Amino acid sequence: MSNGSLAGVALIGTGAAAPELAVTNDDLAQVMETSDEWIASRTGIRQRRLLAPGESLTTLAVQAGTQALEAAGLAASDLDLIVLATSTADDRFGTASRVQHALGATRAVAFDLTAACSGFIFGLVTAAQFIRTGTYRTVLLIGADGLSHWVDWSDRRTCVLFGDGAGAVVLQANSEDRLLGFELRSDGSGHHHLNMACQAEPQALTPDLSIGRGNVTPITMNGQEVYRFAVKAVPEVVEKSLYRSGLASAELDWLLLHQANQRILDAVAHRLAIPSAKVVSNLERYGNTSAASIPLALDEWVRAGRIQPGHLIAASGFGAGLTWGAVVFRWGI
Ligand code: ACO
Repeated sequence: MSNGSLAGVALIGTGAAAPELAVTNDDLAQVMETSDEWIASRTGIRQRRLLAPGESLTTLAVQAGTQALEAAGLAASDLDLIVLATSTADDRFGTASRVQHALGATRAVAFDLTAACSGFIFGLVTAAQFIRTGTYRTVLLIGADGLSHWVDWSDRRTCVLFGDGAGAVVLQANSEDRLLGFELRSDGSGHHHLNMACQAEPQALTPDLSIGRGNVTPITMNGQEVYRFAVKAVPEVVEKSLYRSGLASAELDWLLLHQANQRILDAVAHRLAIPSAKVVSNLERYGNTSAASIPLALDEWVRAGRIQPGHLIAASGFGAGLTWGAVVFRWGI
């Protein structure tokens, strides 16, 4: 399993999956006080894909992972490690092992990683460490979330923002290191701005003894605080990652941000002096898919041939925790 002298990391294949069910802003306007004009002008979102009853996050993650393996020209049996970045696991004990089993990746160890909308970036850096130490050679990183199960569909301030999906990337040991620099950050003092909290409601165990019964509360968000946080914090970590890579923002081919909101993408790109033509954006059709959004967009851009081998990309995730981070990498071997 050791990768010998191949201490570098390369990203070599992508995959993606989204549920069939597409729900437009006009669809939402039928059931709540909102409009396509309000949602699109403030967020850029026009449609989101939502899990139908009976569909699971595991299925989406397996589809995305299978595609990424095909794109990389590898078999599931080649995998040493599977990391599933998610905040909405099908099983709170973890979902990665189910994905491992469904893929037939019998040699791979698999675990979940939770860092909300930063999950894919945190997962990328985590996976890279295993490769760089020579412990593992081939890693499948999946970002997948089904936030539609956990939003309050009577809260128009949050429910219109989110969609469900999965994206995946295969990372492999490589003679040249294509992961050039990164910066990860956390600040729990801002955790209350964005929550999907577990709470324990009292329940009687005996007439004299109460214990807690677990319950997950729907997503709550202070949109304006999250906006302010993202627009300030994301350029900082992108610049730090570029500095560590010995590169300047002008050298980037693409800025690949967590697809939260077009206004955030525009403001961050403006602060980094990156032209809009270099900003990857597909949130119009998917909404905010949390840990899935970066690999979902990466897959689309790679398959369309926009991102080419050797292209320089700065990717950044940000969200609940608060957590945020950035990675600068070159696509392909
Ligand atoms: N449709 C119509 N009206 C709405 C809707 C809606 N879906 N949602 C809120 N409104 C109303 C509010 O009730 C309010 O009305 P009022 O003034 O009569 O009380 C008015 O619109 C303004 O509400 P705000 O919450 O102040 O709206 P704001 O202009 O801040 O826009 C938004 C909200 C789009 C969420 C914005 O704050 C934002 O972009 N925040 C960034 C956060 C984000 O993108 N989060 C995504 C998840 S977190 C992450 O991934 C990092």
